[in-house]
Amino acid sequence: MSDEALLQLLQHASDDRQPVLLILDEHDAVLPPPQHPDSRALSNRFDICTSARRQGWPCSFSDFWLNAELLAGCRRALYRVSKEKRVVEHVLQGLWLLLPVNGELHLAGYKGEGIKTFARRAAAAWDCEVTLERGDGNLHLYSFTKLSERAEPLQSGDYHGLQTIGEWQGCAVYSKPGVFAWDRFDAGSVFLLGYLPKLLQRGNPGQQRALDLGCGSGLLALALVQAGFREVIATDNNAAAIRACEFNLQQLAQDQQALVVADDCGASLRGSFDLILCNPPFHQGFEVEQTMTDRFLEASLRVLKAGGVALFVVNSFIPIERKAAAWFGKVEKVADNKLYKLVLLSH
Ligand SMILES: C[S@@+](CC[C@H](N)C(=O)[O-])C[C@H]1O[C@@H](n2cnc3c(N)ncnc32)[C@H](O)[C@@H]1O
Repeated sequence: MSDEALLQLLQHASDDRQPVLLILDEHDAVLPPPQHPDSRALSNRFDICTSARRQGWPCSFSDFWLNAELLAGCRRALYRVSKEKRVVEHVLQGLWLLLPVNGELHLAGYKGEGIKTFARRAAAAWDCEVTLERGDGNLHLYSFTKLSERAEPLQSGDYHGLQTIGEWQGCAVYSKPGVFAWDRFDAGSVFLLGYLPKLLQRGNPGQQRALDLGCGSGLLALALVQAGFREVIATDNNAAAIRACEFNLQQLAQDQQALVVADDCGASLRGSFDLILCNPPFHQGFEVEQTMTDRFLEASLRVLKAGGVALFVVNSFIPIERKAAAWFGKVEKVADNKLYKLVLLSH
């Protein structure tokens, strides 16, 4: 779905007289091409980055590592505020410190998303001039002009620091802000792992390849490495998740191969897998996104070995079996705890 706030922000604050730095998080839209040849973008999402590049924006992919090089020659930054508070604080603070005096920071977001609070906190912390324009549907467009380097910190913690969120079979698991459910184990994934021992009876993991599709900080991938799979691939769209998952797998994998790949719905995966575990991003609180469901199922079908199985965990109310039946020869609900269900798929 196209994000109107992002499009309005570009219309409002980009022009052909000066380059801009555009910060993109989860909000998607077909961007108009950059008006100035030196404009550039940064996103923490692989799919958003790919689509921005397609529209002519040079776009870096990172977990919002902000540095002087990124802003070199740019006096204006544009940011459609993210959903997660810790990400917003980090990006606002980082951009503000890097902008030169007289530089401008333009923000867009809707009232219900906390943009007023962020703007109020920023205005109190920074030596700045602020203007606000309102658009349709409670859209708020703020422009901050930097008057001096004087600024109080906005951040409530270290955005890039990895933190322990628990232990899995004796191994500490780390995550960080910006990753899905970053301060705990996801209950759906824990439910899925309760079923893993049954799947392990199917063959010899030491000779098999396994995939964690949409890995987040990598709890499922870690369990696959612990189970002794010869090769484990984990993949996610989010740069923060890639970093956390890589860190977690590095602690464990020694003789085995464990690789974390940035990718959109598994589209770039090659080869085939004996076991696929997936806790997809269509849960309660997220839209039940048809296209996303199709793409996760399609990728699983394409890379599942003959004789292999894919195990999905979804909220119990999501009718994934109906969708999956169009793609897979065998679709079986193997567990349901009223909150989550496990659906086993094979050719
Ligand atoms: C419900 S979370 C599960 C995360 C992880 N497996 C866990 O157990 O905590 C779904 C994951 O899918 C990822 N995701 C969202 N959109 C994606 C896409 N287009 N391609 C790949 N992964 C995506 C999210 O970043 C998130 O990490």
